[in-house]
Formats: sequence, structure tokens, C-alpha cells
Amino acid sequence: MDNRTLAAIARQYGTPCFVFDEAALASRMREVKRIVGDAVHLCYSIKANPFLIPAMLDLVELLEVCSPGELEICEHLRVDPARVLFSGVTKTREDIEHAMDAGVTTFTAESALHIRLLNEAATRRGRVYPVLLRLTAGSQFGMDERDLRDAIAHRDAFAALRFVGIHYFSGTQRAKLDKDQRKELTMLAALLDSLANDYGFACERIEYGPGLYFPYFAHEDHSDTLAPLRALAPDLQALSARCRLTIEMGRFFASACGHYLTTVVDAKVNAGRSYAIVDGGIHHVNYLGGAMGMRTPVITHIPGPAHGDGAQADWTLCGSLCTTADVLVRSMPLDGLAIGDVLAFHNIGAYSVTEGPALFLSRNMPRIVLADARGARLVRDTIRSSDINRSNL
Ligand SMILES: Cc1ncc(COP(=O)(O)O)c(C=O)c1O
Repeated sequence: MDNRTLAAIARQYGTPCFVFDEAALASRMREVKRIVGDAVHLCYSIKANPFLIPAMLDLVELLEVCSPGELEICEHLRVDPARVLFSGVTKTREDIEHAMDAGVTTFTAESALHIRLLNEAATRRGRVYPVLLRLTAGSQFGMDERDLRDAIAHRDAFAALRFVGIHYFSGTQRAKLDKDQRKELTMLAALLDSLANDYGFACERIEYGPGLYFPYFAHEDHSDTLAPLRALAPDLQALSARCRLTIEMGRFFASACGHYLTTVVDAKVNAGRSYAIVDGGIHHVNYLGGAMGMRTPVITHIPGPAHGDGAQADWTLCGSLCTTADVLVRSMPLDGLAIGDVLAFHNIGAYSVTEGPALFLSRNMPRIVLADARGARLVRDTIRSSDINRSNL
């Protein structure tokens, strides 16, 4: 998205605001699909950015939904529940029953308790639900291989469930394909063999989260941000020859389509350092690995009405929170920076809208604008955090 378009959006909707470019998202996702081929299916983890759901429905088969709140978002958008995979480490009886009543058909089970609750709820509804057993990667998520094997060995005891396969996700922003993803794909293939040999279990599906790396910072190589997927595609295709393989991702799919616009509202020199204060801050801007502004994300500088022809200077870009941690960039050379200029932070399509500590200091939440070939439209107006940070009784 070019500077003129971003400047026009900043003028029309004000700042701070997020802009998500649905056309850019669609073109990235079409390329993702071309790279992996028809045999590898796509699932979008909506935790990365629920505002992309409407566009994603044309671009992926499934949505991974991890909480009752995320399910409510899908219900609000009238998403076909057959396209929801209901996952999550906490599943209460009520969560499961609500999801089943909403029409969700496929669930992950992350523990023996989940299997029991799912089976009871399914039995009460008199139907059989497909379940993916989530294998742990050594954290609190998923179940130990011992429990997974135990469930498969005793699968006849869960008459209202059909264990259709394995769910596996171990982490995000992982750049070392040999060390991580390829090892995991080999492990999953070996597990299929072993489950077939030991229990006569035919695994129909694997839902795998490769957590591929996306480069956020200016010093990184941005020439082909799809390169990790190109490199991994043959390995994914090899596993997809064994059973139906779906790759589940958020960050790698969504990061590139987002921009965050924030305006310089003050400029000063303190103890010899030039500070630009912006109307946003770290409560909205979240680049994994970018703590305390030590790494500079990709930013463009959009001159405002008072923009000067001042010389280039190094600026420390700080937000509006009462914490010295609110440093967006420790040091960035900018030409003629002036109050009223807009800074556009790019690649912010994933985990900023949802993961920022948005309530700190009770500053209002940013507007959200979606853009496509027809133009820009407001999809969420600002929300007053002061309404949330006080008693509502
Ligand atoms: C189960 C599961 N799948 C997929 C994802 C998405 O990860 P990423 O955004 O790295 O693709 C997450 C992220 O936390 C997750 O917990």
C-alpha cells in the first residue's frame, strides 16, 4: 500500500489506526496455495487477527478457533461452523456444548479430560464428532504421547468420538527448518507408522502448525518473505501423501498485510537525545523480538502539514504510555521530522490488534480500517478503554 493511500486513510480516519490490506492478503495467500499445492490444505489461526476472517474465508479451508470468545466472533460473522476447528487448552463442558450447539463439528482434545468431556457432550447429542488428538511439544499444550497412545488403544470406549488424526504445533517464528519443522514432519510420519503398527490406527488427518518465520525488522532480508514455505513445501507434500495434511498458521499468513498509522504529537531533545512522541505506542505495536525498540521495524515517514526541510537526525520514537518501556524505536534517522507527520509501521497484520496491552493507561483503542481494490472502509470504531477499566456495576 503506497504512502498516498496511507496518508489519505490517516486523514480520513485519524490516528492511531490499523489498516489491513485485503488485496495484499489475498495475493499472498494465493501464492501460499500455489507453493504448497492442492494436496496441502490451509487453516488460519484467527488469534493472529480476527479482522481478517471475512477475507480469509475465500482463501483458506478452515479457521482455528481457540476460545469461546473467538467462537463468538465467528458466530457474529456467520461463519459456517463446519469450517471451524475448535481447539484450545481450556475447554469446559459449557464451552464444548456451546460449540457443538453452534454447529462446530471438529474439535481438538488436549488431555484425557477433554476426551471425556467431548465424549459426554457428543453422547448427549446422539452423534459422533471427529476429534484431533493434540500431541504435546513438551509444554502445557496437548497431551503426552503416552496419553495419546492410551486414547487410541481404548478408542472403542469413546463411542461418540472418532479420532481422525493428530494436531501438532510447537512454536512460532521458527527460522531453522532443519532443526525444527523438518524434524517434526519426520517425527509425525514415524508416529503414523507406529500408531498403525501398534493399534491398527489409520490416521486420516494431520493438522500441523509450522510456525514459519516472518522478518519484521529493517536489517532483515525482505526480498522473498515466502522463502521458508518454498523450502518446506516438498517436506509438507511428502507427508500429505500419507494422510490429509492441513497447515495451520497465523503470523506467516497475516503479518504482511497490516499497517499501523500513528502521528507525531511532540518532539523534544532531552539530555542530548531527540525524542518524537507519537499518539500510539507499544500497547498497539507488537513485533515479536522487538522489545524496547532495540530492533527497528519497517517504517515509512509520511510528511504532515508542518513537515520541515530540517536535516536528518536520529530520533527515539516513543508512545503515549507512562512507562519508559514505551519505546517503539530506540534510534532511527529521519529527515525533517515534525509534529503532525505520520509514521506507518508495516508488517503489523498479526498479533498487534490481539496481543498488545491495549488497556494500559486507558487510552482509546485504535480504529480498524480494511482496504481492498475498491477503497478503504471503517470496520471498528475506536473503543473507550476507560469504559473497561472501571466498575461496570
Ligand atoms: C495451536 C496453534 N496453532 C497455530 C498457531 C499460530 O502460530 P503462528 O502465528 O506462528 O502461525 C498458534 C499460536 O499460538 C497455536 O497456539
